[in-house]
Amino acid sequence: MCKEYILVMDSGMGGLTTFIDMVSALPNENLIFVGDTEHFPYGEKTKQQVSEYVINIIESLHDYKIKAMVIACNTATSACAPTLREKYPFPVIGMEPAIKPAVEYVKQLEEQKRVLLLSTSLTKQGEKLITLMHKIDDEGIIDCLAVSRLVRFAEDLEFDTHDLTNYVKRHIMNSKVDQYGAIVLGCTHFIWFRDFLTQMAKGTSLKVFDGNEGSIRNLTNILASQDRLNKDNSKRELLVRFTNPNDSQKIEELKKHIQEDITIF
Ligand code: DGL
Repeated sequence: MCKEYILVMDSGMGGLTTFIDMVSALPNENLIFVGDTEHFPYGEKTKQQVSEYVINIIESLHDYKIKAMVIACNTATSACAPTLREKYPFPVIGMEPAIKPAVEYVKQLEEQKRVLLLSTSLTKQGEKLITLMHKIDDEGIIDCLAVSRLVRFAEDLEFDTHDLTNYVKRHIMNSKVDQYGAIVLGCTHFIWFRDFLTQMAKGTSLKVFDGNEGSIRNLTNILASQDRLNKDNSKRELLVRFTNPNDSQKIEELKKHIQEDITIF
């Protein structure tokens, strides 16, 4: 039988956080990761441009049988998930900012606290986020902050430099942060800084949330309900590609987080 793959994609490094979590959560699945670094950053493009880039990537994989796709990018989810669902026969799982668990968390805190949602500008302006906030945030306790510079820090593999620390202190962990009980990472690139932010919030009630777990759970439930989870536990394939050929450092970074063989294709 012809091999089936789950496609995971993003504009670059962000989606790797989802891919890394999927490698351990779905040990029998063949996975393809594509980082569209040639068109990075998606957050500063138009909705139409992002849709085109994502469709081009899917079309470029016509030799592979895709059984599901995870858009490991909040920006691309907001820009084109419904279009992809109409166009392709496989399930398309988007990335949703984890504002629901964050709101539930702050509501049970003794002190009254707000939620700080970090995203790209395109996600912040998107209808998807506005609709989600209306649905969940009936008391108006969520503030959304576009911190696009943080996307570039992740893309440049700057995980603990002085510049990063200064930026975070200036824009996120500043004098206003006391009013927040939760930070939601509404862009997969920011998930590279989950531990960094958690460490900075040590000793406070501030908790950091991201959407990876929810999206992977969603994917697993959909495949299980269709009886399409791979039961064959013989060696699976992990294929990785960045569309900009000068991205070998990113592959090296990925290898630090995955113990299995990966194939650059
Ligand atoms: N990682 C992406 C997201 O989750 C987009 C970053 C970018 O390319 O601007 O929104």
